[in-house]
Order: sequence, then C-alpha cells, then structure tokens
Amino acid sequence: MMMTSLKASFMQLSMALIIGAITMVSTQHPVPTPKITSVVIVGATGDLAQRYLWQGFFNLFVEMESVGHHLKLYGATRVNAEEGTVLLKNILNERVQCNKLTVPISSNCEDLREKFLSRVQYKQLKKAEQYQELCKMFEMEADQEHAKENGRWFYLSVPAFAYASIAENVGSFCRPTVSNTWLRVVLEKPFGHDLESATKLSDQLMEHLHDEEMYRIDHYLGKTGVSSILPFRQLNQDKYEQIWNKHHVERVEIVMKEKLDVTGRFSFYNEYGVIRDVMQNHLTEILALIAMEIPANISSPEKHRFEKINLMNKIQPIRKQHAVIGQYKAYQEELRDELGKADNFTSLVPTFAGVTLFINSPRWFGVPFVLVSGKKMDSKSGYARIVFKQNTFCVNDDGIEGACGTKQIVIYTGGTGGTKPMLLVSKNLPRPNVFAGWTTKNSFEDQNLFGSDFKDFNHYSPPVEADAYSALLRSCFLGEKQNFIASDDLMQSWKIWSPLLKDLEGTIPREYPGGINNGEILDFVSLTSGTQFVTQQNEPLFENRYQHNIAFKTSTFRNEFLVSGEAKQVIQALAVDIYNSSIFSIKSRGYFHLALSGGKSPVPLFHELSQLDSFPWRDTHIWLVDERCVDFDNDNSNFKSLAKNLIDYISIPYRNVHPMPITGVWENCDEEQSIYYDNDIRKRTNGIFDYIVLGLGKDGHTASLFPHSSTLEEDRQFVSVTVNPSDGSSRLSLTYPCLNAARTVSVLVTGADKVDIVNRIKGGIVDKMNLPVTGVSPDSGVRWYIDDEALTG
Ligand code: BG6
Repeated sequence: MMMTSLKASFMQLSMALIIGAITMVSTQHPVPTPKITSVVIVGATGDLAQRYLWQGFFNLFVEMESVGHHLKLYGATRVNAEEGTVLLKNILNERVQCNKLTVPISSNCEDLREKFLSRVQYKQLKKAEQYQELCKMFEMEADQEHAKENGRWFYLSVPAFAYASIAENVGSFCRPTVSNTWLRVVLEKPFGHDLESATKLSDQLMEHLHDEEMYRIDHYLGKTGVSSILPFRQLNQDKYEQIWNKHHVERVEIVMKEKLDVTGRFSFYNEYGVIRDVMQNHLTEILALIAMEIPANISSPEKHRFEKINLMNKIQPIRKQHAVIGQYKAYQEELRDELGKADNFTSLVPTFAGVTLFINSPRWFGVPFVLVSGKKMDSKSGYARIVFKQNTFCVNDDGIEGACGTKQIVIYTGGTGGTKPMLLVSKNLPRPNVFAGWTTKNSFEDQNLFGSDFKDFNHYSPPVEADAYSALLRSCFLGEKQNFIASDDLMQSWKIWSPLLKDLEGTIPREYPGGINNGEILDFVSLTSGTQFVTQQNEPLFENRYQHNIAFKTSTFRNEFLVSGEAKQVIQALAVDIYNSSIFSIKSRGYFHLALSGGKSPVPLFHELSQLDSFPWRDTHIWLVDERCVDFDNDNSNFKSLAKNLIDYISIPYRNVHPMPITGVWENCDEEQSIYYDNDIRKRTNGIFDYIVLGLGKDGHTASLFPHSSTLEEDRQFVSVTVNPSDGSSRLSLTYPCLNAARTVSVLVTGADKVDIVNRIKGGIVDKMNLPVTGVSPDSGVRWYIDDEALTG
C-alpha cells in the first residue's frame, strides 16, 4: 500500500506558516521581535466556552509557546469584575486540563497550564467604554512585553441577537491601528433563521466588520473526518475522480444520527428544529466538500470559496416533496415541562428529517444526495457515504462477496462509544492512498457495516483526533478562511433550505418512539420526484404549495366525484390531483403516463402544471388525447398549443413527449398513423394510461369522439381516425377501449357556454351515440372538474 504523507506535509506547512507569522527568520536580524495576539472570549463562562473553548485555547497556547508566540487572553461577560473573576477562575481550574491536551509538548504541562492561567484575565464587557478601555490595553500589553501586535481576536460565544452591538463596539474601538495586525471575529451559529433573517444579520454585521474579518464557525469543519474529505479526494484523484460523478455514483448519503434528545435546549431547539440546527449548516458543508470540484489549490481560501460557491449555486432549492419529517414521541411533554408551557401547547418542530436534494451540474445531474439527521435515533453515527453503481455480473456464486458486492466509500466522522473517524473503501474499488499515520486498527471486526462485511473494506483511522474546536481555533489563527463560512455561501445555503422550511410550516411531523424502537417507521425512499416514508400511515399524499389556499368544493356529479368552484380554483385542484397522482404512480410503478386533450379549456391547466416547479417531469410521459390532422406549425394543432403552453416551460426529456404522428401537411390522417400511435401506447404504457384529462364539447363530444360517429363502436383499437361533422376535418382520437382502461380519467369543463350540455348529462344518462362523454366509464369512475359557470350558469 502506498502511504503518503500529505496530511503530514499540511501540518508542516501550517507550522511553517505559524512560524512565518511570528518570526521573520533572517540572518540579518538574529533576534526576532516576539509577537503577541490578544484573544477575547465574549461569553467566557457559557456552556460552549466551558466545554470546548478554554481547552482549545490552551492547546493553541501550548503550541504557540513552543515557537515563542504569546497569547494574552481575556474572558468577558456582562457580570461585574468581582463576581466574574471568581467564576472564571473556577471554570478555568476545572476545564483546562493537561490530560486533554492534543498537541505534543516538550516541557512540563503543569507549568504550561500555570502560565496559561496567569495569562487569562477577566473583563466585564457591557458598555461601549469598556470595549474602548480593553482595546486600548492591547497596544500597551504589546509594548510592555516588547512584542509586536500580531492580531486581535474576538470569539463571540453569545446568542446571535447580541452580535450586532458587539460588532459595533469592536468595529468602533478595537480595529488595530498598526499595519500587519489583524482583527478577527469568530461567530457561532445560528446565523439567522432563514434567508431573510440571515441577510439582515449579515447586513448589520457588515456595517461594522469586513467580511474577511468574520470567521463564522461550523464545528463540523473542524472534525478530522470532515476536514480530510478534500485532501482525500485530492490524494486519490487518479483513482476516484473519474468515477466521482453521475455515471458511476448511484447516490450519496450524508448522515448525522444522535441518540440524545433535546433536554436542556428546548428554548433554542423549538425555534430551530433539525433542519436549521444541523442540515442547513453541518450537513450542507459536508455535501459541499464531497460534491464540489477540487480547487486548484485546496489550501487557498479564494480557490476553495470559488469552487464551493459554484457548487452551491447549482443545488436545486428543496421543496416539501423532497423531505420527510418526524418528531420523537416524548418531545411535546418534555418541551412543556422544560419551558413551563400549558398542557395544550403543541409544537410542529421536527427532530428528524430525511431530505433528497439534487445538483444541476454536469457532474451530478440526477444523482440523489440523501441528507438525514435526527435526535433520539437508534445510535450515534455520522458519515458521508458514496454508493457506486454496481453493474458487474459475477458468474460464480461466491462472486457476491467480491467484485459484485456493494461498491462504496464511507467517510465516517464519528459514532457510538467515541468511535474514531474512519475511512472505509470497498475492496472492489481501487485501494486508496491514505495519509501518513492513519492505521487500519479497528473496532468492527466481524461486523456488518453499510450492508457489507467489515472485512470487505480497506479501512483507516487517524492517529489522534484533535477536537473540532481546537482544530478550528488553530485554523482561524492561521487565517484559513476556507474552513469557515463566508457570507455568500451562507446566503446560498439559506436559499437552498428556505423554500423547504416555508413549505413545511403547518406540516405535522410523523411521530416516532425514539431509540431502537424506531424500527422501520422513519425509513424512506428517495426518488427524483419525491421522498416518502416507506410505511404508509394516515398522512396525506404529497401536497403542494397550493393545497392550503384552494377554495374549491367537492360533491358528486352523475354519482361520481365532482370538484366545483371558480374556474381558477377548479383548475388548480385538477393540477394538484394530477400532481398527487404522478407522485403516487412514480413511487409505485416508476413512471407516469399522462394524456392531455387539446382545445381552449385545458390551456390554463397547462399553465398551472408548468408552474409546479416540483412536478416530476423526468419520470412523466405526455401523450395526446386527440389531434387535428394539420402540421405542428398550424395554429389548430393541439400539439402546438401543448408545446406553447406547457412543454416549452418544463424540463422534460424529449423522449417522454409523444405527439400524435402528424408529420408534414396532411389533408386527412390515415389508418397507418392511428396504428402507429396505438402500438406506441401499448408498448410504453402496457395499455394503461395513469391519467387522462378530457374536455367536453357543447355537443357532448369528448376527445374527438363525435356524436353518431362509427368510432364510438370501436371496441379494440386504442386510436382511430375520426371526422369532425361540423367542418368535415379529420382527426386522430383515443377511443373508448383506451379511455376506459385508464387508471384515472378527469373531465374538465369550464365556461358559461357549457351550461346546457352539463345540464343534459347531469341526470346520469348514458347515451354514448348522442352524448359520447357519457360512454367514458373507467373502473375508478370519472372525476369531474366543472367550474361554477358551467355548472349553474
Ligand atoms: C450542534 C447542534 O451544532 O451539533 C446540536 O446544535 C448537535 O444539536 C451537535 O447535537 C452535534 O455535534 P457533534 O459534534 O456531537 O456531532
């Protein structure tokens, strides 16, 4: 196995940068001026600071001391100096520990720890003057230590609502006057609630700080597994880059399951939920690292950002039909207890979500990226999994174990029982190059992982995992902006997620028991057209953005289902019905065959359908119910109208569009054409359309089945040549055998000029010779969509 030392060279390179940052090694200046960086942790006694930040800064301090760079730290809160000093001292004594140190040391750790504690000072930061006073001290400290100021570093570990005023104080009083001294402000999520609030927050911050001064942290980017993704891809470009695309990848899964519940965090969590808490940020960041083009230089923040934003721009905004959501059963009660809410207080906040998203790039078009996260899952695990298409046929029975097994690469970011990050590559893929020091020790012998035996993987783990915060503090110190979130990627991420968040307002999440009892209840399928739970409960099929707003009425007509109301409402309701049917059909059969009629009435329906951005056109086939025997350029062509009002606006594969075969200028269609279309229908639909939309003529005709025509007697052919008695022109039309075999047939009738014919048929009369529409009788019954004008005049 070829082991490379890429990771080691990164470490060396960044070390060199640190040294470079603090000393100008030169033979002419043998005694370099020491440098000093002032660090201010605002919110110094909060949970995050206690759990990660102080220890993280201790790690950095130790590393910096070894190269002669000094840190001076200030812990700040709004509490007065007397109380704050005692509180901070206790926290530091408890939380800063030598046994948690992740950097190598050459001197006694306890001595270093003492030194670190002596360099931390408490400061009350409540008023502008206090910021002013503190920031004046930075220069003085540097002078006293005969050092050059290297940087001023603020870590805001406070709720986001406090950011703007702190940024104002920092921007007004703390910007360094000395050149080559940087100002960096680290911000913790949440960065807004949706696109609008994130934009507002960003604008407020930009009034006081420059974008390059802001380091928005996403701790997932500091996890070894995550930060190894791009270096791993780069290191293995020759092996995997040619299969890292839609031709070879079946799907990509990005998963973050937690066993924990929300206890202790309800006031935050109930405002955010799983999508805002981890999907818009952590999982989207991982997705970007997996899917972006490898930057020409992965250590260059500019090149990295360019590729990242390029990718993010191509991710399709997510809509409701691409997500399933759940909430663990005890959530409501725990929430009420913790927040002291009344017994009838309920929350629709999801604690679980499964989302499928797509990237409109040449590399990834059509590949589902499945993102999953939840609280109270059966286990804690986080991974990105690339599942490759398997098209090898193994002739020997035992081939299943080898070349024919699942081909996958899993970047495991951490899991149960403190499992280390791990890289798993199926043995039937080229063996990867890995970083120096990564070993193949493991804890999964004899286990089945991701549907494969553990022994079928080449697997590697890093030697020591620095905690994510320590890694990112170091990264921030080095100015590695690529490991932080810039404003434009943040906004782009909100653009992707905000439509879904809006769509989900008012949606009831599926309840799940939590832990191993979840069983299959949250399993879901991901199709291009939608994402749906595998097990059905009494939940509505996919709704779309209109459903809540449509004020149509339902009743019966000819003892069949009727939707009535204003024309617009009736048409919207029909569009929703077609949409729901398409999702159902694609889920159960993989395709949706839809036949549409011509004429004026369906034109607004075409417009409506063209505006449903989430309609699964890729798996839909469009057919015609009837056609005039004229060239497609002719204004009387039904296909022309369909193209002009629908097909031109949607993204449907051309092979899914099936116009009736009227080519050239034909005076009369002939038998040959009807046989051709008939065969095509039978071949592609198995003789059953999923959905047919018909119209109704004033004389009772439907499709091009006119009263008294011989076509009404047709009992075998699906398509026939017919003649319009009013002008003698020829047409092609579907016949009763075809219409009545369909799974769903809807008849759309609009306008006051139809009131007479509607009255004639409403009694339920069946007289196909005089009133051809009454001969339409599919097993499921006709669904009538009649607007109020046609129904009552
Ligand atoms: C945080 C979320 O960002 O990440 C928490 O707010 C979540 O809800 C946590 O529990 C998970 O982080 P980790 O590092 O334990 O996977």
